[in-house]
Amino acid sequence: MKSRSINLEYYEFESLDGLPEKEQVLIQRAIEIAQKAYAPYSNFPVGAAVLLDNGAMFAGNNQENIAYPSGTCAERTVLNYVHGNYPESRIDMIAITAVNSKSLIPATPCGFCRQVIVEMEQNQGAPIRVILHKINGSTFVFDSAHSLLPLAFDDDVLKR
Ligand code: THU
Repeated sequence: MKSRSINLEYYEFESLDGLPEKEQVLIQRAIEIAQKAYAPYSNFPVGAAVLLDNGAMFAGNNQENIAYPSGTCAERTVLNYVHGNYPESRIDMIAITAVNSKSLIPATPCGFCRQVIVEMEQNQGAPIRVILHKINGSTFVFDSAHSLLPLAFDDDVLKR
């Protein structure tokens, strides 16, 4: 038996000032769109904003439903829109923020959303930077989605 470990590396910024301007702009967009979330059941509005390699920016928020599993997270709202409309474009980064979070650290994407981001990252053959922002708090930056989902179930398993 061998003991193994997986290292998760990310950067923490205590204030937005330390981040590059385009990342700051993307975070602001995520904050704005979170205000329009439809989250009456959880009261946990989330915003996600995506930046493409051509500079285009898209945003989405969580859309809940009285039949709870019918709701959709902010990340998949925007990612599925972008992938559906611009399948050839490359996603450079996604910024995510939860405006009512009680946690002391930024909210992190659920497992479902991590799986979706990882597949888009694999398909485009380039990493997607994941930026998690806590309002009036710190920001965590991950160089790739894969680092947030180590040992991911990915297309390697289906290769013959
Ligand atoms: N939610 C997101 O939109 N993104 C996440 O990464 C975590 C959770 C939403 C789903 C639900 O509407 C609410 O937050 C509470 O779970």
